[in-house]
Amino acid sequence: MFKVNDNYLKLPGSYLFSTIGKKVNVYAAANPDKKIIRLGIGDVTQPLAPAIIESLHSAVDEMGAAETFHGYAPDLGYEFLRNAIMENDYKARGCEIAADEIFVSDGAKCDSGNIQEIFSIDNKIAVCDPVYPVYVDTNVMAGRTGVYDTVKETWSNVIYMPCTEDNGFAPELPKETPDIIYLCFPNNPTGSTITKDQLQVWVDYANKVGAVIIYDAAYEAYISEENVPHSIYECAGARTCAIELHSFSKNAGFTGVRLGYTVIPKDLKVGDVTLHSLWARRHGTKYNGAPYIVQKAGEAVYSPAGKEQLKKQVAYYMNNAKYIFDGLKEAGYTVSGGVNAPYIWLKAPKNMTSWEFFDYLLEQANVVGTPGSGFGPSGETYFRLTAFGSYENTVEAINRIKAL
Ligand SMILES: Cc1ncc(COP(=O)(O)O)c(C=O)c1O
Repeated sequence: MFKVNDNYLKLPGSYLFSTIGKKVNVYAAANPDKKIIRLGIGDVTQPLAPAIIESLHSAVDEMGAAETFHGYAPDLGYEFLRNAIMENDYKARGCEIAADEIFVSDGAKCDSGNIQEIFSIDNKIAVCDPVYPVYVDTNVMAGRTGVYDTVKETWSNVIYMPCTEDNGFAPELPKETPDIIYLCFPNNPTGSTITKDQLQVWVDYANKVGAVIIYDAAYEAYISEENVPHSIYECAGARTCAIELHSFSKNAGFTGVRLGYTVIPKDLKVGDVTLHSLWARRHGTKYNGAPYIVQKAGEAVYSPAGKEQLKKQVAYYMNNAKYIFDGLKEAGYTVSGGVNAPYIWLKAPKNMTSWEFFDYLLEQANVVGTPGSGFGPSGETYFRLTAFGSYENTVEAINRIKAL
């Protein structure tokens, strides 16, 4: 008789965004005349930039001729893309990362979920609270998180690092020593960031205690302030303690195209074993590469025209972020984020819980956001709005909220 992986049965409820989707669908079915504006899920709405479309078209044509057809991609990704990443995302920022330390993939969600596989089940993870749910849930699936406390909504074997108004939504070094530390800056969901000096403290700490940092830089393109690092490798010593995850979803609108990459420096070792070799083995065994067409589209992200067009796309979303931030502030809400990130983090008014505020906004303003408690216990009473909508919808949504 087969047995299931019963770690899956420990997972509480469904994935946050499935729950939200179901709630919104029920409301929409009962209220077909209402125009619902979705500022919940972090999906982009602007079309792909012309430079990317052009590259996709020409790659499609290549696939139609025997001389230029491409089958399976190389395990780590095509060199043209890995070189473009190395030059633009690392060398240009003074970071020492070689092209063969970059693993191209179909996105940061898969990588952030799969990366835990190369670590022993005995490792203890530390996560920010609130947190992007994938880091915790995938460790639950692996059986690394212990027992779930349904009242506290925490796992017995996970170190939670509260990110609250009191600490400026920046985690403090944990009292208990973790083996694996997940950090994400600019942060989803709070929209907060930390400075290069603050990140250096984490790198020094990880090197001191022998921990590895899994640094999710999915929102790096939204950084507007000077002293905020775009990569953890801007910090001295990060090559011996940090893995970095990147996505093309938010900087280039690839949520439906699918492309990302993970960096594992060869200096990141336990004894003689490099994490690079383990991830390379995993990639080779379980993954057959992002499509050639998509990797060509990724290359266009780094072309002069692509860069120019994407700068405007990011600015478009950040203009929405400013509208949300200013509008809510004007309406008396306590708001943060939105300066280096496309997320605005607000406190639910009148002592409402996150889900009470979700229902209130859905029913009274027909606006969908994301309840902060869905990201962890310290997210309770908070709420996330995204700047990824159209400008028109963003303005209408905020004006509706202001009118409540
Ligand atoms: C922090 C973070 N990492 C990763 C992802 C997923 O990125 P991708 O679309 O590349 O899978 C998201 C998406 O919302 C995210 O918020």
